[in-house]
Amino acid sequence: MYEFNREEYEKRVKWFTEARFGMFIHWGVYSIPARGEWVKSREKIPDEIYDGYFREFEAKDYDPRKWARLAKEAGMKYAVLTAKHHDGFCLFDSALTDYKSTNAPCGRDLVREYLDAFRAEGLRVGLYYSLLDWHHPDYPHVSDKVHPMRGNPDMTDEGRDFDRYLDYMHGQVRELCTNYGKLDILWFDYSYGEMRGEKWRASELVTMVRELQPGILIDNRLEGSGSEQGSLMTGEPLPYHGDFACPEQIIPPRGLVDKKGRPVVWESCVTMNNNWGFCLSDRKFKPAGMLIKKLVECVSKGGNLLLNVGPDARGNIPEEEERILRRIGEWMKKNGESVYRCGASGLSRPDWGRYTRKDDGTLYCHVFENTVGPLPLIGVGQEDVISARDLATGAELKPKGGWMCSDYPDVAFITLGDDPVLPDPDDTVIRVTLKN
Ligand code: GLC
Repeated sequence: MYEFNREEYEKRVKWFTEARFGMFIHWGVYSIPARGEWVKSREKIPDEIYDGYFREFEAKDYDPRKWARLAKEAGMKYAVLTAKHHDGFCLFDSALTDYKSTNAPCGRDLVREYLDAFRAEGLRVGLYYSLLDWHHPDYPHVSDKVHPMRGNPDMTDEGRDFDRYLDYMHGQVRELCTNYGKLDILWFDYSYGEMRGEKWRASELVTMVRELQPGILIDNRLEGSGSEQGSLMTGEPLPYHGDFACPEQIIPPRGLVDKKGRPVVWESCVTMNNNWGFCLSDRKFKPAGMLIKKLVECVSKGGNLLLNVGPDARGNIPEEEERILRRIGEWMKKNGESVYRCGASGLSRPDWGRYTRKDDGTLYCHVFENTVGPLPLIGVGQEDVISARDLATGAELKPKGGWMCSDYPDVAFITLGDDPVLPDPDDTVIRVTLKN
């Protein structure tokens, strides 16, 4: 039986806390109705109708190498693809079901191709696997809170054998952990009500996963959801604890620490618009500049950002999402140093933006908003600054301001020059080398 060991734990999460930025990919037959991945539940669509999407799923343009290149260009270091979402459709060639991509018109093992493509670009690879299943006959239908057939008076849950479902679910996880080489992340989703922890036979599941894939990171949703961060937070993780907390559609206001005050590894998962799965009518995309700042916010609070894309039914990442990722990539190319292997600075948040800090002590000032006069580094003494550089160009920026700074001897200042318009409209980064 797997047991938590802090030393081993810290070793295995190291790459993850250095990587900071990943791509979440929600893709499946729900991209055909194009109303988000919950469409089957939300609209209570019966199998007979929903199966039509399966019979139509051609995924003609699917070329995961394009996705992988885009992720890499955006500066992402890892990705997580939905191998099975709540609708139960498997994007991999499972021997345990017919409801899989190899039986759909596309006739391909989409997971395998994704893994090959992302690994080829040097990215770490993860798979999302839904604990819920709205296709399996043994998953509770009528009595479940979110199943598409919830409350259906013409149906019964009699004869549904949840243990049989769990055998199936464990079996599929075994397949994923056995047939596809080394996986870096397994992203279970999610627990709710009574459906949590040992209800999933979670200790058994995690023990199996960790045996088959030593070093893999597992999210925390065998015990929680986007809003319950599980036993990692208690400082005494259960056998099925997650390796990281995964707040959803929120960046924790103060980062996360456990009961003993130790920082908890976390990853915020965030959509670019307001849907995970492709949604044709959802045009509310977050501007690239905002997402750059949100990535920096995550890092400044010691966390990661898992930013979602929702490819369409043909397998294309929507143009707007691609454009956003390219802009983030431009910024990352110049400023990635202030994100990778960086974390919280220990200083309070400055008025003009945010700080991130590298483990060697280098401080990065993310200037979102220009100041009148030189930039004050509150928390940093004047004598502590060795040098300051504009990160994008390497240009020297002079520490210490002019006469107007002399009233604040305990604050270091950096002179940015006389142009009130910042060189990077989204985030101008200054690297500050400090005395140890
Ligand atoms: C949720 C949703 C789901 C989405 C996930 C991403 O729990 O059920 O549709 O995949 O969060 O975090």
